[in-house]
Amino acid sequence: MTKLFDFNNELSDKIALVTGGTKGTGKAIAERLSKAGATVIITARHHPGSMDEKLHFITADLSRPEGNEKLVKEILSSFGRLDILINALGGSETPGGGFAVLNDKDWENTIQTNLLAPVRLDRGFLPQMLERRDGVIIHIASIQGRLPLFDSTLPYAAAKAGLINYSKGLSKEVSPKGVRVLTVSPGWIMTSSATKMMERIAESSETTIEEATQSVMDALGGIPIGKPAQPEDIAEFVGFLVSPRAKYLTGTEYVIDGGTIPTI
Ligand SMILES: NC(=O)c1ccc[n+]([C@@H]2O[C@H](COP(=O)([O-])OP(=O)(O)OC[C@H]3O[C@@H](n4cnc5c(N)ncnc54)[C@H](OP(=O)(O)O)[C@@H]3O)[C@@H](O)[C@H]2O)c1
Repeated sequence: MTKLFDFNNELSDKIALVTGGTKGTGKAIAERLSKAGATVIITARHHPGSMDEKLHFITADLSRPEGNEKLVKEILSSFGRLDILINALGGSETPGGGFAVLNDKDWENTIQTNLLAPVRLDRGFLPQMLERRDGVIIHIASIQGRLPLFDSTLPYAAAKAGLINYSKGLSKEVSPKGVRVLTVSPGWIMTSSATKMMERIAESSETTIEEATQSVMDALGGIPIGKPAQPEDIAEFVGFLVSPRAKYLTGTEYVIDGGTIPTI
């Protein structure tokens, strides 16, 4: 049988950046792209300690404009170009208690990290992609962009909704010029932080980890597939999206949520 693609080497001539690439989903994506042969740069505020020796680490705090500018400069001067940009950084640190407990700082910090960091990195890396008429940008959003939870993550949900909208608009501008732009919106992912959170809930409520996990799934309205995603589930799909096999895909949002969103 004719082999159509060599999945292990299909990204061998590509240089990729994965933000938030030291933990959770970003880490799984970085390892997946590296396995496909890409030169992969990961970034975070702290060095992960141990990491796959094929990955390149650059320290940057992307919650402020200077951190993004530094990262763009450092990558373009050291690697000469960037072909694949995975904006995986994101998260929420705001307290529970609804709208009334959230101040301007909570809103601003969340929007900086979840919306403005991708906007700034795209702006920094797009010119050289457009010049070469080649590149792929992925925005990792969340199902909260369309299924917002109000207790502690309202700014996060609003920022992710903005990211999904921005991603679509940007794709219209740059796809005719050779750069594909896509959004991936995961549901709940069982990262190492989520595992620790389940252990804490189980301990404080004197239940098992399975019961704690079920209580979070119930709060989401249920996950039809019966469990949260693993980071590798998201990484595998991103690996496909950035590959030449997905060359006709742009301007689309892909939801990976085990069926969590209850509507069509
Ligand atoms: N986990 C979920 O259930 C879930 C669900 C839907 C969507 N998502 C989305 O999926 C993406 C990955 O989430 P995750 O939960 O897998 O991530 P995670 O495990 O919490 O890891 C976050 C990563 O971002 C880095 N980071 C945090 N703040 C940073 C900053 N200011 N500047 C630079 N790097 C920073 C962290 O390293 P340092 O702390 O060292 O900086 C780490 O590498 C996010 O966009 C998230 O919104 C996650």
